[in-house]
Amino acid sequence: MLLTRRISFLGGKGGVGKTTVASAAALAAADGGRRTLLVSTDPAHSTSDVLQVQLGSDVRAVTENLDAMELDPEREAEAYISDVKDRLAEAVPPRLVAEVERQIDIAKVSPGAEEAALFERFARVLDESAAYERVVFDTAPTGQTLRLLGLPELMTVWMSGLIQRRRKVSALGKMWRNVAGASAGSESDGRPDGSTDRRTGGVDVDPVLTALEQRRDRFIRARAILTDPEQTCFLFVLTPQRLPILETARAIRTLRKYHIPVGGVVVNQFELEFAASAGDRDRMARQSACMETIGSEFADTRRWLVPRMDREVVGLDALREVGRLMTVESVP
Ligand SMILES: Nc1ncnc2c1ncn2[C@@H]1O[C@H](COP(=O)(O)OP(=O)(O)OP(=O)(O)O)[C@@H](O)[C@H]1O
Ligand SMILES: [Mg+2]
Repeated sequence: MLLTRRISFLGGKGGVGKTTVASAAALAAADGGRRTLLVSTDPAHSTSDVLQVQLGSDVRAVTENLDAMELDPEREAEAYISDVKDRLAEAVPPRLVAEVERQIDIAKVSPGAEEAALFERFARVLDESAAYERVVFDTAPTGQTLRLLGLPELMTVWMSGLIQRRRKVSALGKMWRNVAGASAGSESDGRPDGSTDRRTGGVDVDPVLTALEQRRDRFIRARAILTDPEQTCFLFVLTPQRLPILETARAIRTLRKYHIPVGGVVVNQFELEFAASAGDRDRMARQSACMETIGSEFADTRRWLVPRMDREVVGLDALREVGRLMTVESVP
C-alpha cells in the first residue's frame, strides 16, 4: 500500500511515471474501500488520458470511491486574478479601480504568480477535502513543485506585511473620516453623493483586510498540513537511471530543508527480464548498478518497486495491474 498517510504528493523528474503511479495508487486505495481524491496539476491532461475520463477543475467521479480533478495552472491563475479584481472593485473607490486593475495585470505576469494561484487552489482543495480518506496530488515536475511547496512560508511573511500595511491605511482612513465627518457632518469616500460606505454599514470592517487575513490563514493551515508527518507524505517516483536518481536525491534534501515529510521512493519501470544478447547484458548491468545506488542513496526511506509493463498503461484495468504488481522493496 503506497498511500500510508491521508495526503500524498507524488513528485519526480518528467516522464518517470508520476501520473501512472499516482493513478494506480489512488485506484488501489479506492478499490480497497477508501474514499479517495486524485488531484492532478498537469496542464497536458494526462490523468484524463490514463483514467479515460474527461476531468476538469471540478471534482468528478471515476469509480464508486474514486473522485478526480485536473487543475490547469494557467487557468487557475486567470481565475485567481479575476477573483482578486472583483474583491478590489468592491473595496476601492470607483475612481481607483482602473489603476488598481492595471497593477494587478502587471502582477499577473510576474514570476511566481501561477504558482501562487495554484498554491491557493491546493490550499482550498486541502481545506475542502476532509471527506476523503486519501488525497493524492499528482504534481507537475520537480522544480516547479518544490518552489510551490516552499512558497507558503514566503507567502505568509509577504501577506503579514500586506496586512500590516493595510491596517495602517485603514487606521489612517478612519482618522481621516472622523476628522472629515466632524467638519462636514458626513462620512464620504469621495463618493459624489457623499453617501456612507454601505458594505461596512459604517461599522469598522475592512473587506480587503478580511480577505487578506482569510488568505493568510489558509496558507498557514496548508503549511501546517504539509509539514505534519502524521497527515502528509511526499513520495518520489524515479526510474533506475542515473539522472532521475540524482534529481530525486536533491529534491529529497530540499524537502527536508522545508520540513516536508518524505514517505519514500517508488522505483518505476523496473525491467524484470533481459534477453541474452550483449546489448541486454549491458542494460542489465546498468540497472543493477543503479539499483545499488538507489539502495544506498535512499537507505533511510521506504522503497517500492513497479515493474515495466509490456504495454502502455491506459485505462482502469491496466492501472489495477500496476497496483497489483507494486511491491514494497525495503522498509528502513
Ligand atoms: N511501469 C510502467 N510500465 C510501462 N509503461 C509505463 C510505466 N510507468 C509509466 N509508463 C509509461 O511512461 C510514460 C510516462 O508516464 P507518466 O505519464 O506516468 O509519467 P509522468 O512522470 O507523469 O510524466 P510527466 O512528467 O510528463 O507528467 C507513459 O506513456 C506511461 O504509460
Ligand atoms: Mg504526469
